[in-house]
Amino acid sequence: MTAKAKIIGSGFYVPPKILTNADLEKMVDTTDEWIMSRSGIKERHVCDDKTTTADLAEAAARLALKAANVNSDYLDLILVATTTPDSLFPSVGCILQNRLAVRRIPSFDISAACSGFNFALATAAAFVESGQYSNILVVGADTLTKYVDWTDRGTCVLFGDGAGAVVVSASNGDGDGILANYLGARGEGGKHLVMPLKNGFITMNGKEVFKFAVSALEESVTEVLKKANLKLEDMDLLIPHQANIRIINHVAKKLGLPKEKIFVNLDRYGNTSAASIPIAFNEAYNGGRIKKGDKVVLSGFGAGLTYGANVIKF
Ligand code: ACO
Repeated sequence: MTAKAKIIGSGFYVPPKILTNADLEKMVDTTDEWIMSRSGIKERHVCDDKTTTADLAEAAARLALKAANVNSDYLDLILVATTTPDSLFPSVGCILQNRLAVRRIPSFDISAACSGFNFALATAAAFVESGQYSNILVVGADTLTKYVDWTDRGTCVLFGDGAGAVVVSASNGDGDGILANYLGARGEGGKHLVMPLKNGFITMNGKEVFKFAVSALEESVTEVLKKANLKLEDMDLLIPHQANIRIINHVAKKLGLPKEKIFVNLDRYGNTSAASIPIAFNEAYNGGRIKKGDKVVLSGFGAGLTYGANVIKF
């Protein structure tokens, strides 16, 4: 029987500084009311200049290893989902490999913006199922606020910084673990959400991204459940990418999903890109929202344009 990849521990870290909507009211022509009604975001955590993506990734990784009750010698591979690496090279993955003082295990970054954690988790599952690696650290970490134009009220209100991590291990027999994934890209829409390599800021066509996000979220949830031979009613919890409450509400309405089946924490973190889903997963898990036997769908969408989901049985 093929081994399944199971999450055995998780952790997350956000920088201590909080930027509220009231703070933003002093920086650009906006209001708490506008930001709340258009996005659902109340506050977000932001890095200081000295803090790097690798710093956030390391803090989350150490907590995940502790929760899994393993040390870094246990790992065979490190995957980091990020689109805000601290340098073009070395990768955040290699910085992490060095800092965690593990053996000379492979480590690399995966670039799929806000979908990155789902791409990385699916990659980890494939390595486990193939038998090549048994114990993998999967991190989603981003510092998008370093790339935000703080004079552009259309984008600067949406993003925050953070990192989330899980330890994935091979499990035989009980049928738990990552059951299926569904990944996609629509490169033709890449122009709607762009961060140039040099001297630029994030630019976004909000309306186009909104339309894409709604359709990508609906498609990935529906298709990943189908691949796992599950029905929508079988899903106990959906943990969507935490970009905008209106995107989530639209999809909930289209799919007929009750609010209790969807985890939301974007009011406190904003859009933390690849970190958003692992941070939400940590809060859902630690808050008792995931019980033994539950089937949970993680579903992300983002720049690329990319989208993807994993369904996990606990
Ligand atoms: N405060 C006040 N007014 C604002 C603000 C602001 N922060 N930002 C824009 N406005 C104004 C605009 O200038 C515009 O004014 P105008 O009518 O005088 O021209 C008006 O509000 C409406 O602007 P729209 O852009 O049409 O507002 P919309 O209702 O589309 O909401 C938003 C904008 C929130 C960005 C929305 O389009 C959206 O959520 N899109 C998806 C964005 C997203 O989730 N991106 C991330 C996903 S991908 C990833 O995760 C990387």
